[in-house]
Amino acid sequence: MASRAGRALGCLVTVCRGCCCGTARKHPGVGHQEQPRRLRRGLVQPFRVRVVRECLGPCAYSNVVTVSPSREGRAAGGRPVWLGFVLDEQIIDDIVAWVNAGGPGLADLPAVLSLHTFTPPRRAHGAAAAPRIAPGGSAPAPGQA
Ligand code: FES
Repeated sequence: MASRAGRALGCLVTVCRGCCCGTARKHPGVGHQEQPRRLRRGLVQPFRVRVVRECLGPCAYSNVVTVSPSREGRAAGGRPVWLGFVLDEQIIDDIVAWVNAGGPGLADLPAVLSLHTFTPPRRAHGAAAAPRIAPGGSAPAPGQA
């Protein structure tokens, strides 16, 4: 088992479960409850998976998952990556494979995941803040812009 310090070095995968992400009302037939469990099962230490109950903002891209770099990844230039439309097991497995390879800053973003990246709006809500698609791009985490 990794030490607390060791865990702090790993990527942080944040799974939004706010008003839209993770709801059968908006996305019926998706294994929402299974997604965080699948991430935790697949990721090797050190890693962190955090499920947040407050909306991250860009609901139009639900389900939203962000991947923040490890300490080494950030030192290598990695920045948090926002992923949208995380709605099936294959995307979860692609996230697991990328994070296990090092994640932001340490491993190239797979092409299939680049199709899911977007730049979040500066403001959490509002049509004027509609996010731009930025394949392969990354963006600061909420509050770090
Ligand atoms: S509920 Fe996830 S972005 Fe709004």
